[in-house]
Amino acid sequence: MKTLVKRSNKKIYRDGDKLVKVFDSTFSKADVLNEALNLARIEETDINTPELLDVEKTPEGWAIITTFIEGKTLEELMKEHPEKEDEYLEQFVDLQLKIFTQRAPHLNKLKEKLHAKISSSGYEATVRYDLHNRLEGMKDHNKVLHGDFIPSNVIITPEGKPYVVDWAHATQGNASADAARTYLVFSLNGQEDLAKKYLKLFSKKADIPMQLIWQWMPIVACQQSTNNIPEEKELLDSWVNVFDFQ
Ligand SMILES: Nc1ncnc2c1ncn2[C@@H]1O[C@H](COP(=O)(O)OP(=O)(O)OP(=O)(O)O)[C@@H](O)[C@H]1O
Ligand SMILES: [Mg+2]
Repeated sequence: MKTLVKRSNKKIYRDGDKLVKVFDSTFSKADVLNEALNLARIEETDINTPELLDVEKTPEGWAIITTFIEGKTLEELMKEHPEKEDEYLEQFVDLQLKIFTQRAPHLNKLKEKLHAKISSSGYEATVRYDLHNRLEGMKDHNKVLHGDFIPSNVIITPEGKPYVVDWAHATQGNASADAARTYLVFSLNGQEDLAKKYLKLFSKKADIPMQLIWQWMPIVACQQSTNNIPEEKELLDSWVNVFDFQ
């Protein structure tokens, strides 16, 4: 088996035409089964995804086995062909919008997930109260949301067919939250210009005003804070506390 990706708590191998994603003990059995179940649910939609083949307990930890998708991620393609960034960004946004047209009524609900994240965050009660209120005030939708829609989670095959991977964070809910999350990840990655370009393009293509997407920023920033990454704290704090100044 060939190691493709090594993270602190996860390893991804290629085994012929299969992909093996192995989770260490920081992931509960329920987390791993939830990711596999999300994938199974998304397989029933019109989105191209790897096919779930198996979930098994290995000596290294629980593993999800899927088909291996030949190709390059949009992240790799953007790095290789910076002159084509706009074209790739357009393809990226179109794909995100296609995901929103899908329905998967048994997926977890975004609002429930975010309320739980706010509750478990380290922010003080007064801030959490504002965040819960803000979240409750948001429109309920039932669009399929990827939850971590970033260029490294899109694989383009040599024939140009896009596949979306990594459905660990998928829910159903309001599309603006998913766009806010994508913007946040670009920003945390130091890709401020790309983040802005993305938001502008998304707002235009989705016909959603940027103001509505901004309303989600404190909430998605709070969600991200629960990953406890010290380098992200300053930026996330400033976004969570944005309504202090309103
Ligand atoms: N089925 C697949 N076929 C081919 N390559 C894959 C497949 N699944 C994942 N990859 C490659 O492995 C990389 C990491 O996989 P994945 O996104 O599932 O894990 P991750 O990014 O570590 O997860 P998370 O975002 O939850 O931390 C992807 O960016 C992609 O390059
Ligand atoms: Mg990923």
